[in-house]
Amino acid sequence: MTVWAPTDDGHAPLWSHDSFTQGAPHHTFARLRREDPMAWSDYPAGQGFWNVTRHADILALNRDTATLSSAHGIRMEDQTGEEVLARRTFQETDPPEHTHTRLLVAKAFSKPMVALFEDQIRTLCDQILDAALAEREFDAVQRIARELPMRMLGRIIGTPDDDLPWLVEKGDALIANTDAEFTSHVLDQADTDAYRLMPFRSPAGAELYDYASRLMAAKRAAGDTQGVLHLITQPDAQGRVISDTEFRNFFCLLVAAGNDTTRYSIAAALHAFVHRPALLQQLREGSPALWDTAPDEFIRWASPAMYFRRTALRRFELHGKTVEPGDKVLLWFVSGNRDETAFDQPFEVNLARQPNRHLSFGQGGPHVCLGMWLARLEVRVLLQALCQRVTRLEATGPHEWLRSNFVGGIKRLPVRVTLA
Ligand code: HEM
Repeated sequence: MTVWAPTDDGHAPLWSHDSFTQGAPHHTFARLRREDPMAWSDYPAGQGFWNVTRHADILALNRDTATLSSAHGIRMEDQTGEEVLARRTFQETDPPEHTHTRLLVAKAFSKPMVALFEDQIRTLCDQILDAALAEREFDAVQRIARELPMRMLGRIIGTPDDDLPWLVEKGDALIANTDAEFTSHVLDQADTDAYRLMPFRSPAGAELYDYASRLMAAKRAAGDTQGVLHLITQPDAQGRVISDTEFRNFFCLLVAAGNDTTRYSIAAALHAFVHRPALLQQLREGSPALWDTAPDEFIRWASPAMYFRRTALRRFELHGKTVEPGDKVLLWFVSGNRDETAFDQPFEVNLARQPNRHLSFGQGGPHVCLGMWLARLEVRVLLQALCQRVTRLEATGPHEWLRSNFVGGIKRLPVRVTLA
């Protein structure tokens, strides 16, 4: 069962991945937004943290890099300085350093550059749907939602298609490092100390490091200067070149971040079609202008990147609470996206929602998702192709959620399709 609306007065512990195995604990977030919008959480595994749950506060704090830093870790787990340095990408840096590195690759991810992929994406979608729909009954996450981001990843980083299932499996092991279905080293249950200098404290990080080094050596030997992996190794405006470790971490970031989040956005849309068949009909029969707004609405609804963490650089007050330098502050995008003061009927999917000031991509801050134009395009083109070919999706069994309080999504969605 999905929580379509918060029904009771929840007190789910937000540090626990188990609080998210039925979807995000929206009743808890709704209560926090209402009663305690700057709530403190004790954290059995380390230093406690603040929870920012209102849309307006998240937006304001995300912008304020003089107050909140990304350079001390972006997840709730504590990290030593050594661990942060070993595992960091430009995502764990602050302006102006962050700006210089980001500029190297920003153009490649811009809306006009990404738009050039549209025809390729459409062809991929046709192939994916040809294969899946031929079966009529299947797991829609495995057969549809997972496929497109994976195949696009290959085009972004320039890897052979044959390597992609392995890469995505490893990317899953990183992002879903709290779900036993995806990793042998469940973060909060196994001893991961041997991997503390690897991305996500995961053994998969070590394997991806090796792959990234080999890929880059092969590209250099072939004189290949195409693509984002080449761009990120160029000197920035200050003449600084990222280290080999930062390069490998960037590779891991793309493999992990570019994949699961888009997959879970597509999965959320498919799940919505199952439980609200009228949405599918609306897209099939409604105005083509719906396609300008629907992808963002599904991405708001999905909120796959549920929070990102910052660390306070100075003392400040919010809603009567005093935050001290060094305190961890979690910006709960998933809560901001259901804030009743920012969205009319936030618990409904409104395909024509406009404006839609959702926070799924970390809007407002300097780290706003680099891949957002690509993600929007993938979601739109895939759903357009699906809507042309399918009139109905029905559940053939229960769906299952990822066990994670960081990345949220439906990992299994058994369906039967009715073809147009
Ligand atoms: C619906 C899909 C996606 C969602 C919801 C999403 C979400 C996010 C969020 C919330 C951030 C901000 C992190 C922060 O504030 O610290 C972010 C950053 C980032 N995303 Fe995405 N993402 C998606 C797809 C993608 C794709 C497809 C790619 C690449 C192929 C990508 C690459 C990145 C990178 C590199 C950053 C770091 C940017 C920086 O620090 O300046 N993302 N993403």
